[in-house]
Amino acid sequence: MDIVGAFACSHAGLIVERRDQAPEKQRETMYGAYARMGQIIRDLNPDAVVMVGTDHGRIYPLVHSPQYVIGVSQSAHGTGDATLPECDVAIHQPLAQALLAGALDQGVDFAFSEEMRIDHSFVTVLMLSDPDFRFPIVPLVQNCNVPPRPKLSRSWEVGHKLGEALRSGPAGRVVVVGTGGLSHWVGSAERRAFQSRPAGTRLPHMSDIPPLKLDPTGPINEDFDREFLSLMKQGKAREFAAEWSNERLEETAGNGAHELRNWLTVAGMVNDRPVHLLAYEAVAEWLTGFGVVQFDL
Ligand SMILES: [Fe+2]
Repeated sequence: MDIVGAFACSHAGLIVERRDQAPEKQRETMYGAYARMGQIIRDLNPDAVVMVGTDHGRIYPLVHSPQYVIGVSQSAHGTGDATLPECDVAIHQPLAQALLAGALDQGVDFAFSEEMRIDHSFVTVLMLSDPDFRFPIVPLVQNCNVPPRPKLSRSWEVGHKLGEALRSGPAGRVVVVGTGGLSHWVGSAERRAFQSRPAGTRLPHMSDIPPLKLDPTGPINEDFDREFLSLMKQGKAREFAAEWSNERLEETAGNGAHELRNWLTVAGMVNDRPVHLLAYEAVAEWLTGFGVVQFDL
């Protein structure tokens, strides 16, 4: 398929749950940006939208934590997390199947699901940009949630290989969207420390940590966010991925910033085309630096 559009954006469900708690100007700016993205996608009229999102530990708990998953079922079930409504979104199965096979050919061994479930990293963005679910999606999950996570350079590389697989797949028009970030800190310091313990040591002690609690407002590293966006505007996603370790990213921009790897994956798909900014706002009430960008193809 031809990649006719490419976007990256934040996905925090608090934009819906705490819609009216944000300052009016920030709320209008961000809702306007998602609506604008949705209008551009409708004008592009793609056959499918490939979405690169994550899971937040509910769909893939520590019992089984894949690094990459592609949904190949007829539809993806939105689980209704983050106070969003449950929903079902059609999957473009021929493209999903072609991407699964094509990725294997390119050396990326995706896990796959014939009963795909998706969380707010997909549903928030769809609700804000394509609330009628007019276009079938291909859901790709990348582990941004629990360490060990892929290196940022691997996230870009996987995207690059997926771009090759997309272009040699079935004929048609496709839009790609990566979701997550920008800077944000999720959960208490105790909870984050627990999550960072070595793989294999966490599951038996899950009940020892208090449940996730979200504060009324949270820290945002606006300087980091603007630097990251500036690099994306210059088409330097690959350079960012090469220079930043997972540890440095978390220290600087929070554990939620690991989701920026989904932006890097889309940048890899489109060979580091530069982006232009549709909107950025550091919204303390939504606990997140919110960004929406479009790649200039
Ligand atoms: Fe997230």
